[in-house]
Amino acid sequence: MKLAERTARLGTESAFEVLARAKELEAEGRSIINLGIGQPNFQTPINIVEAGRKALLDGHHGYTPANGILQLREAVAADIGTRHCVEVEPEEVVVVPGGKVTMFFAALMFGEPGAEILYPNPGFPIYHSVIEFSGATPVPIPLYEETGFSFSADEVLSKITPNTRLIMLNSPANPTGGVTPKAEFDRLVEGLEAHPEVAIMSDEIYSRLLYDEQEHVSLLAYPSIRDRVILLDGWSKTYAMTGWRIGYGIWPGSLAEQATRLAVNSNSCVNAVTQVAAIEALTGPQHSVETMRLAFDERRKIMLSELNQIEGFRCVEPQGAFYAMPNIEGTGISADELQDGLLEVAGVATIAGTSFGDFGEGYIRFSYAASKEEILEAMRRIRAFLATRVA
Ligand SMILES: Cc1ncc(COP(=O)(O)O)c(C=O)c1O
Repeated sequence: MKLAERTARLGTESAFEVLARAKELEAEGRSIINLGIGQPNFQTPINIVEAGRKALLDGHHGYTPANGILQLREAVAADIGTRHCVEVEPEEVVVVPGGKVTMFFAALMFGEPGAEILYPNPGFPIYHSVIEFSGATPVPIPLYEETGFSFSADEVLSKITPNTRLIMLNSPANPTGGVTPKAEFDRLVEGLEAHPEVAIMSDEIYSRLLYDEQEHVSLLAYPSIRDRVILLDGWSKTYAMTGWRIGYGIWPGSLAEQATRLAVNSNSCVNAVTQVAAIEALTGPQHSVETMRLAFDERRKIMLSELNQIEGFRCVEPQGAFYAMPNIEGTGISADELQDGLLEVAGVATIAGTSFGDFGEGYIRFSYAASKEEILEAMRRIRAFLATRVA
């Protein structure tokens, strides 16, 4: 068989490989603490589960419109209106099976040989993967520990060439927990006004996971670029719904129609029961969102303090999402080797920074979407592992 050349260009998300290996080790009877995969260790709030169960019993068994049930798109538009103070029409909302799908659609829509797409590095690995798949050239926007892994507007603007079609941005960020300050967004938007042909895909999937009284900055809220911002958000992280597979894009102008066409050609629609549950998530009580955020915040503080006490580790304070990415150069062990050793020997699943791009060398990602006890035990195991390495 001869496969299309582009299939060889698809990357992957190592978190799923690490998860599979962790499960294998567990099946062999090993105790594994999973700080690898980025998903809340909470159950979906019960009101949402009940709405899903009722939807199943009420007969929501068929196809829905490809862009999502109208009532759901209205709920998304209202939610965006409240949270980001920007008016969104339900026609601009395209509901898809997970946040990831919006980035795939954006890459397919803008990427082709000769085009350049900017993406954060270290960043969510699927950005690079889908850009490569599209045939476009991925252009990394380096993120530095020194600036808390926030992006620099000047650096982003300096990468724009006549071939730039799309810029992918992510704040709060995976894998670093970095949050870009509003002043930087302001400067970026001002600079982007000189490049009206460049679209921006803003991945704001962690917009409700911010700490220390920070307010989320949405690129959708800037009127001067409103007609070329694609907003990516969803339910996975905010409502602990990673396995329900639902997310959405806000697509300006005719792009919503294009995104819907991609949906018709691939997934047809998101399963109806999940969509009904998602309406309840947005319109029902929101206290569980805050309860989970507070729990993450407590774990963030524990993890940061613990990581900074490990010899050879140095971690900047993550300000959003549920990840910390310490610099591990002081251990003298490479990120890949440390990831393997921690999993195979110490029984702690983490992800090497190299999984998130070249700029991730020398770092390792921890998810603190785990219990306090698990985090503390993991840190004890890491210290013990490193002690044997030194000895
Ligand atoms: C930055 C970022 N964007 C998007 C996603 C995808 O989310 P979903 O599970 O809804 O597809 C993730 C998941 O880890 C993520 O970290």
